[in-house]
Amino acid sequence: MKKNILLTGGAGFIGSNLLRMMVNKYPNYKFVNLDKLTYAGNLENLTGLEDKPNYTFVKGDICDSNLLNSLFEKHKINAVMHLAAESHVDRSISNPMSFIETNIVGTVSLLNAAKHAWDGAYEDKIFYHISTDEVYGSLGDTGFFTETTSYDPRSPYSASKASSDHLVRAYYHTYGMPVKLSNCSNNYGPYQFPEKLLPLMINNIKNNKELPVYGDGKYTRDWLWVDDHSKAIDVVFHKGRVGETYNIGGNNEWKNIDLVELLCDTMDKLLGRQVGSSRSLIRFVKDRPGHDRRYAIDATKIKNELGWEPMVQMDKGLSETAQWYLDNEAWMDRILSGAYKEYYSNQYE
Ligand code: NAD
Ligand code: DAU
Repeated sequence: MKKNILLTGGAGFIGSNLLRMMVNKYPNYKFVNLDKLTYAGNLENLTGLEDKPNYTFVKGDICDSNLLNSLFEKHKINAVMHLAAESHVDRSISNPMSFIETNIVGTVSLLNAAKHAWDGAYEDKIFYHISTDEVYGSLGDTGFFTETTSYDPRSPYSASKASSDHLVRAYYHTYGMPVKLSNCSNNYGPYQFPEKLLPLMINNIKNNKELPVYGDGKYTRDWLWVDDHSKAIDVVFHKGRVGETYNIGGNNEWKNIDLVELLCDTMDKLLGRQVGSSRSLIRFVKDRPGHDRRYAIDATKIKNELGWEPMVQMDKGLSETAQWYLDNEAWMDRILSGAYKEYYSNQYE
């Protein structure tokens, strides 16, 4: 069946990588990318897609109900892929309100618009909510998050994402909204905003700047190549069961300090420096308040039910990621100088 998909947050890191895959893979689907273009949204991430006949960009806010209603009607939207969010934990600690607005109010606005537009319309409609493993809280040295792990969010970011997950499920149970959810671990790859660990460190290593590692550096994350996440989203969207949640992870745990050291050595090779020399830039700095110690996903359900598994190994993915940021210096420089914001004001305001 033809799908007219409203994809939110498509100018961000995961959304842009996902769109690049989906728009090319499904020429018969129509993709409407709704993005507010916050500091994290960058149309340069979507270069090459602008002229595709099955792709449209709309600048706007997921909290704007009038806009949402008109988009559902105009584009005959019968599927939603919801990625728009405030996504950075440190920013949620200094400014929680924008997280409440976008992640909670925005998600309910989107659910309401879908409910309004889909009342009696379309057979094969679906509201797919993309979420995070952070909703499950923090693990000790052992154990994994499964789909039945109790929610225990501990930062304003994860609490706002947990709220959005609960609301999506509430609309399924209360109003019969056809929903699917997935909760994924830390993604890495091209086009990630350089406030997040890997692009920040890559840029600092390149420029011989200090590498700020929070606390004792032994916090652990489960890393997943962003295209592997996109493939998982594709599979859940098409084959996942309605009303279900799927955990997505890389089966690839790293303590931050070990990952930063590996990145230093990888960058040294790529930059022709003596391997090991960039490690001298590492500095242990003040910890993130409420810092979750360890995340680790058990992705058995999506493997057994839908046949998805992560494909890209860390050494290959990390090297490709570092090389991408080195090759795309201008992309990074425009973000750091704020020049891309000028482009937006010229283009839209
Ligand atoms: P990102 O910060 O790179 O991008 C978010 C995008 O949403 C930006 O383009 C931004 O402009 C847009 N946006 C923000 N507020 C908006 C609003 N009110 N209306 C419309 N658009 C708005 O985020 P990301 O890392 O690409 O994450 C995408 C989604 O995946 C989020 O929901 C996040 O919680 C989830 N997720 C991320 C990761 C990860 O490792 N990055 C892991 C698991 C889940
Ligand atoms: O687990 C999924 C989540 O992963 C997503 O839901 C979030 O949107 C995404 O931002 C990410 O959250 P993290 O907080 O894990 O990612 P971040 O890149 O901010 O940090 C990764 C780890 O590195 C974390 O333990 C904090 C640490 N860190 C981070 C920065 C920016 C440092 O030690 N130094 C830093 O400068």
